[in-house]
Amino acid sequence: MRGSGGALWRNMVVMVATAVMLTCVMCRKPVRHQVGGKDLWIPNHNYTDWLGNQTFYVGDWLYFMYDKEMYNVLEVNETSYKSCNEKGFIFNLTRGAGRDVFELKKPKPYYFLASGGYCYNGMKLAVNVVKYVPAPEPSPATSGCYMINGIGMLMLTIVIAVWAILV
Ligand SMILES: *[C@@H]1O[C@H](CO)[C@@H](O)[C@H](O)[C@H]1NC(C)=O
Ligand SMILES: *[C@@H]1O[C@H](CO)[C@@H](O)[C@H](O)[C@H]1NC(C)=O
Ligand SMILES: *[C@@H]1O[C@H](CO)[C@@H](O)[C@H](O)[C@H]1NC(C)=O
Ligand SMILES: *[C@@H]1O[C@H](CO)[C@@H](O)[C@H](O)[C@H]1NC(C)=O
Repeated sequence: MRGSGGALWRNMVVMVATAVMLTCVMCRKPVRHQVGGKDLWIPNHNYTDWLGNQTFYVGDWLYFMYDKEMYNVLEVNETSYKSCNEKGFIFNLTRGAGRDVFELKKPKPYYFLASGGYCYNGMKLAVNVVKYVPAPEPSPATSGCYMINGIGMLMLTIVIAVWAILV
């Protein structure tokens, strides 16, 4: 592997290495959390189990799917969440199709409820959003990132090995 073939190889190696490094830096893609999992956004539901299964990071999205004829989604403050007060809500997510998205922009708790009395039947949600910090130990919630990192590291090793052989 010498001459122009070698140069081509070296260019490819540089390109791959750059791509791998960029992937590692950008690491985590925003996740769209489907509220309630397969149970969706419904009354008479306890969202504690579903909440316990995931971590919400800044930049993630909530996806509310529900019966548009019956329900809606409003963002409220903590007091209103606790007392099921729909008056003076912060933001009306409802767009009319029963498919609403909401971007979790800040590291803070967010509160949602369905108006029309359904909140009293548990149709409410409190989501604590945290800033994403790549942690030293992999956790289930961030395994996607570590998978990329793992593959990235493996590729980087191969790239360095190939480089060493070529140069
Ligand atoms: C949901 O269930 C958990 C325990 O599994 C309980 O602590 C919590 O109070 C319940 N939430 C509601 C709104 O009933
Ligand atoms: C939470 O995760 C566990 C284990 O992966 C799973 O068995 C359970 O069904 C999940 N619960 C919800 C509400 O998604
Ligand atoms: C929460 O919102 C309600 C309704 O707008 C308002 O009356 C109340 O003062 C707010 N509470 C806080 C702590 O902001
Ligand atoms: C929220 O917005 C939708 C669509 O604009 C509207 O139909 C609905 O009445 C609003 N809900 C409240 C409580 O203001």
